[in-house]
Amino acid sequence: MSQTATTKALGAADIRARKGGAPLVCLTAYTTPVARLADRDCDLVLVGDSVGMVLHGLPSTLSVTMEMMILHGQAVARGLERAMMVIDMPFGSYEDSPQQAFRNAARLMAETGAGAVKLEGGAHMAETIGFLVARGIPVMGHVGLTPQSIHTLGGYRVQGKGSDADRVLADAQAVAEAGAFAVVLEKVPAALAARITWTIAVPTIGIGASADCDGQILVIDDMLGLFDAFRPKFVKRYAQLASDAASAIASYAAEVRTRAFPAAEHVFHDDGRT
Ligand code: KIV
Repeated sequence: MSQTATTKALGAADIRARKGGAPLVCLTAYTTPVARLADRDCDLVLVGDSVGMVLHGLPSTLSVTMEMMILHGQAVARGLERAMMVIDMPFGSYEDSPQQAFRNAARLMAETGAGAVKLEGGAHMAETIGFLVARGIPVMGHVGLTPQSIHTLGGYRVQGKGSDADRVLADAQAVAEAGAFAVVLEKVPAALAARITWTIAVPTIGIGASADCDGQILVIDDMLGLFDAFRPKFVKRYAQLASDAASAIASYAAEVRTRAFPAAEHVFHDDGRT
């Protein structure tokens, strides 16, 4: 990580200490320039396995590999100074045994400089989370909608409705008690998010889980309007970069078609003057 003498990156203990305090601002990033932009305002930047869908055009996160995560993790690390960097463990890299999880988590951290890993799953992952934490690997949990289990969940639908709420609460509790320093709650009803946030001792970071969480995370390409293959209903778009880019490309194409290519001595100014 490109750390300077004056800037200290936030770590798991800093994020953990924000429980009940100022809301945690979190975004995903996958590249150096975007990480640099996010670093100005974010407490935590996640190298999410959403990279597979957002940047590589994959239909789900299931075929994301360790190598993809490491490459994007290294790029993000070059853009961060203050925000904590967390990296996702890809599907198949941690579920087999705590030992398998340790080997791959240690590799992700050593090769990227991330301050923690995130893994998906509730009570059934508690033993693995405890194993990693005891060996020096901070872990962020992820319960509710867990996209790596899309085939068993049957779609990207809200989790923990009605009588299913107790299961998601028990998952969040198990993950927190196993030693996770924060827990992502994805796509759960507001009342359940509030219940989990009151119950567990570590920050909840919601994604489509209401303002009752201790912070929020969004996929950066979603909130910038850059990823338009589909749009989760809960995502507010703060910019329309895909349509801006499409208009820019169309303007460029129109100029090239009229042979409006500048020579080397031509100077363009940022305000459009030439
Ligand atoms: O992969 C990802 O981007 C995530 C966030 C949506 C929490 O897991």
